[in-house]
Order: sequence, then C-alpha cells, then structure tokens
Amino acid sequence: MLRKPVVLITGASGEIGHGLIRRLADAGNHPVVTLDLKPLEGELARLVQRQFAGSILDTNLLERILSEYEVDHVYHLAALLSTRSEFTPTTAHQVNVEGTMQLLEFAQKQGESHGRPVTFLYPSSIAAYGLPDLGAKARAGKVKEDDFNEPTTMYGCNKLYCEHLGRYYSRHYKQLAAETLSGKVDFRCIRFPGLISAVTVPSGGTSDYAPEMIHAAAQHKPYACFVRPDTRIPFMAMPDAVEALLALAAAPRERLTRTVYNIGAFNPSAEEVRQIVEAAFPGAEITTKVDVKRQGIVDSWPADVDDSAARADWGFSPRFDLDRAFQDYLIPTIRELYR
Ligand code: SER
Repeated sequence: MLRKPVVLITGASGEIGHGLIRRLADAGNHPVVTLDLKPLEGELARLVQRQFAGSILDTNLLERILSEYEVDHVYHLAALLSTRSEFTPTTAHQVNVEGTMQLLEFAQKQGESHGRPVTFLYPSSIAAYGLPDLGAKARAGKVKEDDFNEPTTMYGCNKLYCEHLGRYYSRHYKQLAAETLSGKVDFRCIRFPGLISAVTVPSGGTSDYAPEMIHAAAQHKPYACFVRPDTRIPFMAMPDAVEALLALAAAPRERLTRTVYNIGAFNPSAEEVRQIVEAAFPGAEITTKVDVKRQGIVDSWPADVDDSAARADWGFSPRFDLDRAFQDYLIPTIRELYR
C-alpha cells in the first residue's frame, strides 16, 4: 500500500503549532500529522489527519510515522524555551539538540525513501545571539545573522548548533560516502523574534513579559513585569510568524542564499508595551519587578535584527507593525477570548 503524503508538525500543541495548524487547514491542501507529548485541544484536533502522542526522542514512534506516511514538509517546532532550559540544561539539550537530530535523520530517511528533498522548517530565535553588554547592544542596532553568535543560554546554544546541523544535512551530509546523500533534507530556518499570540500564552520563555502583560491586563489581573522599562528586543505578531514559515517553505530553492534568516516586525521597549496595553485596557495594573537574572538574558539579545536577506530572497514582509499588531489583531482578539 502506498504511504499517505502529509505535512509533519512536531510540538504541534505549542503556540506556533496552533496558528500553523489553523492556517494549513484553511489552505486545505495539506493534510497534517502531528507529534507532541500533549494532545491537541478539541477544535484543533479535528483539523489534523492524525495525532501521534509521544516524544520526538522516541525512535520507534518516528519509524512508525515513516512507515505510514510520506512526509514532504517537516515543521519541527518542539523545544524547551529559554527560561525553562536554564533550570534543566540536560533535558534542554536532549529535547532541543538530540530531538532535532532525530527529526533531521527522519527527514533524511524520508527523502531517501521517496526520492524528493524534504523541506525542513526550523524555528530558531534571537536567543542565538549574545551581545556582551548594553553598550554593545545599543551600538549594534540591527544585528545581521552572522554577527554576535555567542549565546549565553542553553536554549540559544542549542538553537545555534541545530542551525549548523541543518546546514550540514542540507549540504554536506556524509560527504565522504561514494554516492551523494546530501540534498535530501532541504533545511530552512527562521530566527524568530519574541512572538505574541492573541489566543495562547507562552510557557518557559524569556520574552514572555510582553505577551504576559497583555493577557494579564485583558483578564483584569495585576502583572509585575520582570524586565526594566527600557528593555528592548524585537517582537512579532503570531500570524506574521506563521505566514513567514509558509512563505519560506514555498520559496524556490534557487532563490535562497542562506539556510538561516532573521525576521523582525517591531521592537518596542517594555515601557512602550505597557503604555499601549494600559491605553487598550484601562485600569490595567502593570508594575515592574525586575528579575535580575532573566533581565540579563534579555539584555544579551539584540534590540533589533537586520532581516534584509529574508525580504530579498523570499519576500518576507510582515503585515503587522506595532500599532496594527495591537489595534487590528491583539486587542480585538484578546477581548473576545476573555469575554
Ligand atoms: N521567545 C523565546 C524565549 O523567550 C525565544 O525563542 O525563550
């Protein structure tokens, strides 16, 4: 019997997975199979062809998926985020690095078995950067992909290394073998800024202060922001993040000059986010209680990113700037969510 052609999404019940599954379901032509420890929520579950409940480290499970499905696209979203990874660095390495290695092997075997390259979409992060101090951060401005690649977090180290692993599988896999085996994995990676969704809240990240502030205010809950008001990193509305993954996945291979692309949309300070949130949700109680250690992590991330390569190579262009993200997406959708 022929295997069924599908898109595989790992970490599907996470924040990006939510948006991606809905978007692929709307498009209608991509049956989706998911792999996650957690089951998808009711409505999302109905949008996918099949859910596999389990770990990306479970090789038997991956073999089963390989035997039943013909996968042309992998969206490997499963990861432990930056704050959580600092508490359990060994587990972070297992999930973020060994897990990614398993999925790259899976994609390689898929490509070898059906004879076409498997497009492998990988979300990396501004956490892959490490700016040495605030002076350097201010001077650096829009950071290019290959600068300041000295992350201070376990998560950042994991992401940066996996970017290289993906490039290895794409271009150099088993380069000494008699037959050419590389090119079966078409690895494409986006370094995301902090992401803000109107329908989910992140868990275990360090850019979480912005989405937490918004969601707390919408629920009339007080919120103590864990970074200084002047803290600045890039952010993006979740629909733009999902569209970017799909646009990069659809880009003609020959247009891509790199395997890793920065993207950005807006980069407000924590104070600017607070002011917009207070204007949108009058009575919001937002205070500041700096967590010096988490602050240190955010301070090591760039204030802005240079995403000119993404714009030139695959037409990246975010729909939401700061104002539109709040007025057209976050505020109306969140109000509805907590009504
Ligand atoms: N936003 C993520 C985090 O804070 C980074 O990718 O961990």
